[in-house]
Amino acid sequence: MKKLNSYILLISISFITLGCNSTKNSGNNELVDEIDIKVEELIKEMTLDEKIGQMNQYNGFMDFTGPTPQNGFEAVKYENIRKGLVGAMLNVHGVENVRAVQKIAVEETRLGIPLLFGFDVIHGFKTISPIPLAEAASWDLEAIKKSAQIAAEEASAAGINWTFAPMVDISRDARWGRVMEGAGEDPYLGSLIAKARVEGFQGVDLTSEKTLAACAKHFAAYGFAEAGRDYNTADLGTSTLYNTVLPPFKAALESDVKTFMNGFNILNGIPSTGDAFLQRDILKGKWEFDGFVVSDWGSITEMIPHGFAKDGKEAAKLAILAGSDMDMESYLYVTKLAELVKNGEVDEALIDDAVRRILRVKFELGLFDDPYKYCDLERETATIGKQSFHDEVLEIAKKSIVLLKNENNLLPLQKSGQKIAVIGPLAADKTSPLGSWRIGADDETAVSVLEGFKKYNSTNQISYAKGADLILNKPLFTTELEINTSDTSGFGEAIQTAKNADVIVMVLGEHGFQSGEGRSRTNLDLPGVQQQLLEEVYNVNKNVVLVLQNGRPLTINWASENIPSIVVGWHLGTQSGNALAQVLYGDYNPSGKLPMTFPRNVGQLPLYYNYYNTGRPVEPAPNQVFWSHYIDESNDPLYPFGYGLSYTSFEYDQLEVTNKFSENNVVEILITVKNTGNTSGKETAQLYIKDLYSSVVKPVRALKGFQQIELEPGETRTLQFLLTEQELGFYDNSGNWVVEPGTFEVFVGGNSKAILSKQFEI
Ligand code: NOJ
Repeated sequence: MKKLNSYILLISISFITLGCNSTKNSGNNELVDEIDIKVEELIKEMTLDEKIGQMNQYNGFMDFTGPTPQNGFEAVKYENIRKGLVGAMLNVHGVENVRAVQKIAVEETRLGIPLLFGFDVIHGFKTISPIPLAEAASWDLEAIKKSAQIAAEEASAAGINWTFAPMVDISRDARWGRVMEGAGEDPYLGSLIAKARVEGFQGVDLTSEKTLAACAKHFAAYGFAEAGRDYNTADLGTSTLYNTVLPPFKAALESDVKTFMNGFNILNGIPSTGDAFLQRDILKGKWEFDGFVVSDWGSITEMIPHGFAKDGKEAAKLAILAGSDMDMESYLYVTKLAELVKNGEVDEALIDDAVRRILRVKFELGLFDDPYKYCDLERETATIGKQSFHDEVLEIAKKSIVLLKNENNLLPLQKSGQKIAVIGPLAADKTSPLGSWRIGADDETAVSVLEGFKKYNSTNQISYAKGADLILNKPLFTTELEINTSDTSGFGEAIQTAKNADVIVMVLGEHGFQSGEGRSRTNLDLPGVQQQLLEEVYNVNKNVVLVLQNGRPLTINWASENIPSIVVGWHLGTQSGNALAQVLYGDYNPSGKLPMTFPRNVGQLPLYYNYYNTGRPVEPAPNQVFWSHYIDESNDPLYPFGYGLSYTSFEYDQLEVTNKFSENNVVEILITVKNTGNTSGKETAQLYIKDLYSSVVKPVRALKGFQQIELEPGETRTLQFLLTEQELGFYDNSGNWVVEPGTFEVFVGGNSKAILSKQFEI
């Protein structure tokens, strides 16, 4: 191990580089000062109860995105809004609904403070984009930003001013259903995507009625739920916390995200909602975050079953002490905080601090100037479902598709003279492709794959057979699905249809509501009878293109061995079927790359490319067991992080490293990429580094750069990457950013298994 010595650049506490004022969105300090003055003046006017009211968020009367409360609070919600005891609502949407509730707050309360209206605008509002994991597969930051922009414009036209997005939780475990909502397993890609999404939602001007306040969630480590079971314990080391979990949050903060949400999980035995280390020391301390922290749904009261608080009063106290500013659906701040302040257990200064943060966001949104600015009926009608939104989400959907396999160039499909059979339980489904977090959208509004193929301008004959049902009950966001595990009565028709076809497009996978919150799985195979259907169809016709619709990596070993072409079609949103048809016909050459490892076996999970080597990484001698492995499965994934094919091929060559680190702190990497196929295509060139030895061990490789390039057949391009302290450093176990001298290895290629490599020293 290298010792920290005088050569080490210890950039003390540079975990945080941003000062308070530099994080302001407006970039206009006068405006910021003006807001601060107004906030202070208002706080002086407020009674203790009114202040606490600002810290209270109620669910509305329409949708539920958490356990339905059993506490009789429904009855007093309106009354409490009227008394000024509510600062924000969630799940109230639509101009008329929002206006009606806002009117009570503005016109019937003593101080007329407008409400925030939060909603889970996760991948679109009414016009649905691909699920976030799918969008991450595009590696296209501009497209991801655009998608968030569209979502903001559409949701804000429906009265909403605050989205509970982006979810920036890194996760390495595909069993966890919420991987669909994040950017995958890598902190570097995850940080850039966090930034893109925040910038997309918030825009450059938060006072614009087309933007929303964003929310980085769930602070922190919720994505490390043990065994992938939602809401479960997170238990991870300090180095992983600093280097993997926190960076995307920091990136969101540096993009001036206005709010953070804490989580349901414990970390080091402390519920994150009651964690002062996370919220006070890091977020509001070192990072100087000046927005506010909202609890997750009921997460303050959940500190009781966690065994952290003995009752509601203590839970409220622990949450406010730890830095949770707003209580979502625990009803504890509004009922307990006043008493806690009066008996001296909570300093009123903490209440003031929380209220200050909340009011500042309201001012920054411009709600005090016009509380109804998001409540324009005409704008709502003109905006929701605009054609331009459909065009944009179609583009991002195409970019999100990942081609895993394409033997004998079965794809792209010929545009004429073909009999194409579209088969599978999801082939004609118009709801499932919308994915999981799409509560603002209407069922049956996605273009199905079958529709996409029928509408596509080709002279091919299209036939269809469902083959089997995937689910047997009505799919809802809030309730369990019933999976068909036995009814194969439709197989006969599917097999007949397959026999008569030249090519089969089989649409299989998970229903949109099989991933997302509360949707953990222990088995990642194709659910229900789909594997059997796939094999039986393949037995009569081998020309199968498997289109997966999935909210997470799946174990598809058999398909990977046998099926000639496989496409990851995720839950692509409203334009799903059109996007898939256009990609399968080759109008868009697939360019997606996996943002998450596809395992061979659930038993390998958590599985991720940037693992530590262990002391025994290789077989010591033939057949000896004393190395880090499984006796019944390989260590390797089925498809690695960063992987994805194209209808063309790319070659990487001439890796050059020019080390100027001692002169000007930069290492220059040059790489030549050539399109070696017959069609133009887009490649995402990826750069990984390994720090060979250091005071805290490093992963076997870590993504530190990528570039997307379009190349014509035969075209060659030389790309330049620069590695600076930012790429070469890391957080030590005290959270300090350090850059240590030593040997690094750089790898460049089209996925995380890239073999072209060179070493350099700094
Ligand atoms: C619980 C989820 O964990 C969170 O992400 C979401 O924003 C809230 N419910 C509100 O729906």
